[in-house]
Amino acid sequence: MKIFITGGAGFIGSHLTDYLLTRGDEVMVIDNYATGRRDNLKKHVCLQIIEGSIANNALIQALITDFKPELIIHAAASYKDPSNWQEDTKTNVLGTVNVIQAAKKNHCPRIIYFQTALCYGLKPKQQPITLDHPLDPANSSYAITKTSAEQFIQLSGLNTISFRLANAYGPRNISGPLPSFYQRLTEKKSCFVMDTRRDFIYIDDLVDCVIKAINSDLQGIYHIASGGDYSIKELFDATLNAMSIQLKQPIEIRPRNPDDAFTILLDPNETQNDLNWKSTTPLQEGIKHTIHYYQKYGIKETYTHLQGVEN
Ligand SMILES: NC(=O)c1ccc[n+]([C@@H]2O[C@H](COP(=O)([O-])OP(=O)(O)OC[C@H]3O[C@@H](n4cnc5c(N)ncnc54)[C@H](O)[C@@H]3O)[C@@H](O)[C@H]2O)c1
Repeated sequence: MKIFITGGAGFIGSHLTDYLLTRGDEVMVIDNYATGRRDNLKKHVCLQIIEGSIANNALIQALITDFKPELIIHAAASYKDPSNWQEDTKTNVLGTVNVIQAAKKNHCPRIIYFQTALCYGLKPKQQPITLDHPLDPANSSYAITKTSAEQFIQLSGLNTISFRLANAYGPRNISGPLPSFYQRLTEKKSCFVMDTRRDFIYIDDLVDCVIKAINSDLQGIYHIASGGDYSIKELFDATLNAMSIQLKQPIEIRPRNPDDAFTILLDPNETQNDLNWKSTTPLQEGIKHTIHYYQKYGIKETYTHLQGVEN
């Protein structure tokens, strides 16, 4: 297949690119390296990498007209500066609209999108959250713009899938608690954990799910989640274990902020049934692979789109 991947130099986009290249697909990636890394993608005869922004409509129209993809995987997103609402709107909303309109004009039938679980708000009404839970994204510029983009995806009339994701982690992941723990422990800085729980999905399980979706005629909105949650303390302990560190003092556990959710559990039942898919990687094992990557490649920066909440 010919597949156009936005944000292909990022964490999720680069893993999908790698997998699709190994199965023989032809891939074009666009990335502006806002949070992606150049060393995430290796040269390959079937890979073209374009440095640019999806907010540049002329560029997107030209690339899609020229490449004529059969599938667009739209993984680009802006989130690294929670106060930069302009950039979040330009990339997440305008960029998505540019991609959809170029797809329609060039008869690209299918788009896969990745949505944040923050679309359900910080105080979900039920756990696990089912797909019919009301949307309440007014907690961050990231959640508002990603949800607006998801609605444009639905409005497009194309064959689309929006995967709403649990916290994805794995090699190349530089946002969320795990890379922050690794960085602080490496620099021998003190750490604390919040008294919260989250669902963590390992990148190989996520890629497996997306590939199954590509190979099927799946359409609509689905969760990609493990279906279980871990405390942030368990995540921290698994990180210590993978780094062979024993702390002299027990880690400080801070009570969560009043606006923080105790847990965010996405119900993966429909995805499991419709795709015959299940997350299988144990947390300890996924963390070991991730720490190994950090030790080999280092982390220059870590990001969070919700200062003080997610980390
Ligand atoms: N990682 C998670 O846990 C998670 C959870 C929910 C949703 N998502 C969504 O999954 C997708 C991939 O996220 P990720 O975790 O791989 O993050 P990431 O930051 O590693 O990847 C995003 C990529 O988009 C690129 N980008 C940003 N603005 C761009 C622009 N204007 N033009 C072109 N490229 C641009 C970045 O440089 C980066 O390479 C995003 O849409 C994100 O919102 C991720």
